[in-house]
Amino acid sequence: MDQYVDSFPYFPDRTEYEARARSVPQHEIEEAVLPEGFPIYLSSKMAWDRESISSYEDDYILKLDDSQLKEIDDALQHFKGRMRGRQGYQYNVSPVDVVVTHITDMRPPSDPTLSVRVAGYTNEDMPFHTDDGDIVSLFALGEPAEGGESQLASGWRVYNELARTRPDIIQVLASDWPIPRFNCSGTPERLLINFSRRWLAGYGDLKRTRLLSVRQAEALDALHFLAERFHISMKLQKGDMQFFNNWSILHARRGYKDGPQRK
Ligand SMILES: [Fe+2]
Repeated sequence: MDQYVDSFPYFPDRTEYEARARSVPQHEIEEAVLPEGFPIYLSSKMAWDRESISSYEDDYILKLDDSQLKEIDDALQHFKGRMRGRQGYQYNVSPVDVVVTHITDMRPPSDPTLSVRVAGYTNEDMPFHTDDGDIVSLFALGEPAEGGESQLASGWRVYNELARTRPDIIQVLASDWPIPRFNCSGTPERLLINFSRRWLAGYGDLKRTRLLSVRQAEALDALHFLAERFHISMKLQKGDMQFFNNWSILHARRGYKDGPQRK
């Protein structure tokens, strides 16, 4: 019979997580095997961590020089007024393909006059999660006065750590959840991760609707805290554009404060 947790906070609580991890009988961890078809180890450049990617600035940051910026400006001038694309493409009477959201310093959800269901529209911390879609992109129109670092972690690296140390957690994540689960397709050596704890924990006006077992709560916290252990942090500067693969990278954001001049 599963035991259920009384509460499951949106912001992960390390003390609670470690207490739940300690409560798992050692023999259950030692006897656990990975679910069928799940790789023992993902060997790939996609499985990176802070140490292995220490030179990422050279490999993953593209600095455009003046001539490249001019080329973009010229292209924009050239196409002005005659660009056609898939903007406005519809499905079920709703626009699809592209999701654009403007993020700025808003009041925290504790303000009762503000209806908030997504932490991304506030200036609070966001724990590790994935979004909808294939590629997540961020364009920094400005910089906050304080905080706001973008954090990225390889979901494949997190998987490798779990497969090595806690295959029982992969069993839990791979079991039949209505919402988040590790998803292994028929293609070997590939892994897709898509999850957000917001739907399970609730946030602001979005109420928690599901009971989580102790093991499920531990598994979701393990994703967060392992991602935190392996992540890299980026302080985006004005004009920076960030692109990453939503299916292999977990992301988080530190809380921030805007100032009168810095938003
Ligand atoms: Fe996100």
